[in-house]
Amino acid sequence: MTHPPVCSYEGSDYQTSFWDQGGRQYEDRTEAIALKRLLPAGGKLMLELGAGAGRNTPRYAGYERIVVLDYSRTQLEQAQQRLGLSDKYIYVAADVYRLPFVDSLFDGATMIRVLHHMADAPKALTQVRNVMGPNGVFILEFANKLNLKAILRYWLGRQKWSPFTLEPVEFVELNFDFHPKAVRQWLTELGFRIERTLTLSHFRMGLLKRFIPTGILVFFDSLFQWTGAWWQWTPSVFVRAVRQGGTASAGGFFKCPQCGSSALEEGSGSLTCPGCGSRWEVRDGIYDFREPMK
Ligand SMILES: C[S@@+](CC[C@H](N)C(=O)[O-])C[C@H]1O[C@@H](n2cnc3c(N)ncnc32)[C@H](O)[C@@H]1O
Repeated sequence: MTHPPVCSYEGSDYQTSFWDQGGRQYEDRTEAIALKRLLPAGGKLMLELGAGAGRNTPRYAGYERIVVLDYSRTQLEQAQQRLGLSDKYIYVAADVYRLPFVDSLFDGATMIRVLHHMADAPKALTQVRNVMGPNGVFILEFANKLNLKAILRYWLGRQKWSPFTLEPVEFVELNFDFHPKAVRQWLTELGFRIERTLTLSHFRMGLLKRFIPTGILVFFDSLFQWTGAWWQWTPSVFVRAVRQGGTASAGGFFKCPQCGSSALEEGSGSLTCPGCGSRWEVRDGIYDFREPMK
């Protein structure tokens, strides 16, 4: 798959409909706890892949600078409204499969609720590995096909696909669940060492969420998160992986996603690649590396 399809969030009200008004306080708060447990105390440059409207970005405040990256420009505009324009945040519209950064640039990266849109997950993870420096910390969330609900549904004959096999399952177009063992294998093969695994959303059930106060569910979820070290049966899994090997960055920041040249020349409203002549738009504080300007 040379150009895997992108799940478009352009114009989407995802942040409002799914998070702000979608009754997902429990999920949001359990993610905040997991991130606190997995993030290093601080760092220099963080890459947030598929940042959406920047819901999680303030949680990375320990990093000096954060690249807020998403394929959707409208999601980045919402993130800008939330986070503001400052030297701390660099807003980049780009495809995870074609990252516009020089190798080994980042000492931190996160990818939360994004892998589940990846039709070619190993390809996306390879891109992430390439831009991580030695010992860079990568926090990855993935949707788990081996979750208790899927297992029960399979055993009761209500679901055709097996949660026990390693291949991803596409349950809705461009929405995939992954087997934890497959994700571990991909990360390990790419040279990441998995340091910690947390399981989240043990109580993601409408009835429980309706009748039990969110704080209580969050408290018990935070206790159970640690069991991720032994088994993973929840719909959402977080891993902290550290890049082994690699070489320190040779300098530079952006590279042309078309030809790989890192000597991009800054003009007014664009970056120009001397290698292939592509021009990449820079407008209203957003670097756009999705398609070259005409
Ligand atoms: C479910 S949202 C998650 C947003 C955010 N991480 C959060 O948890 O609130 C998925 C995000 O991934 C982005 N995305 C999907 N495919 C992408 C790709 N190939 N490259 C960059 N971003 C992508 C979408 O635009 C969307 O904003």
